[in-house]
Amino acid sequence: MTPQRRDIGQQYQNETKYFREQSHWRMNASTDSAYPHLSDSEASSTISVLPLPPAPQADLWEILKKRRSHRDFSLQPISFNDLCLLLFAVQGVTSTQNGYLFRTAPSAGALYPIETYVLVHRVASLRSGLYHYHVAQGYLELRRLGSFERNLASAALDQTMVADAAVSFIWTAVVHRSTRKYRERAYRYIYMDAGHIGQNLYLAATALGLGCCTIGAFYDDEINALIGVDGLSETVVYMGIVGHRLSDERLQRR
Ligand SMILES: Cc1cc2nc3c(=O)[nH]c(=O)nc-3n(C[C@H](O)[C@H](O)[C@H](O)COP(=O)(O)O)c2cc1C
Repeated sequence: MTPQRRDIGQQYQNETKYFREQSHWRMNASTDSAYPHLSDSEASSTISVLPLPPAPQADLWEILKKRRSHRDFSLQPISFNDLCLLLFAVQGVTSTQNGYLFRTAPSAGALYPIETYVLVHRVASLRSGLYHYHVAQGYLELRRLGSFERNLASAALDQTMVADAAVSFIWTAVVHRSTRKYRERAYRYIYMDAGHIGQNLYLAATALGLGCCTIGAFYDDEINALIGVDGLSETVVYMGIVGHRLSDERLQRR
């Protein structure tokens, strides 16, 4: 049996990154990527996303049939209640046992390496900016006020739909939560965890009548800089965008 090489997980993470100077499946790089730094002086504030607001009735089998990736969004903001429901769907706590916070999405070893950052663009009664979702306490912590959706779109290989979405979810992995138990194999589990979370976002958005698309194509280092993580101990792994869909009629008129 070949012994597992130490650091192969981190090497995998680094060597599968996208960089602007290389060509990828979508490449029309803009230079609009100078991110404002997160400032310590900016007062941090928190917004509770619990208790869970009432959710519309939805039939799981219909939702599964309807789920699709949508990339055309209208200018209509989503409601704050919808954002609360989406957050619950991605990482909401559903049970506490022996100190474990079990959630809507499964996680290898119940280690929950994935963190959720929320880039608010158009959410009713919420100021635009970057927020971090504190799962255990059920609140959003404001990290930085401002309109960063164009920066995010630029960092997502210039996928302009990112700038049009009402809200973007940026999922990072706090790697040591998984590696301390699973070592290098943890990198597999991290991405599986993220996949479950992404599907939950799709299903919840569909149930709310919203459009959703998950995103795996991005310049890792640019997203990490935008949200203020180091890219090693914590690094972006996946994203998802949500908004009201442009009607088919308006799409045809475009
Ligand atoms: C891991 C993953 C990464 C994806 N990344 C992107 C992306 O960067 N841009 C995009 O437009 N769609 C992305 N998608 C959406 C896929 O293109 C979409 O799921 C696929 O075309 C099938 O269509 P459907 O979701 O409507 O069934 C991604 C989906 C997954 C699961």
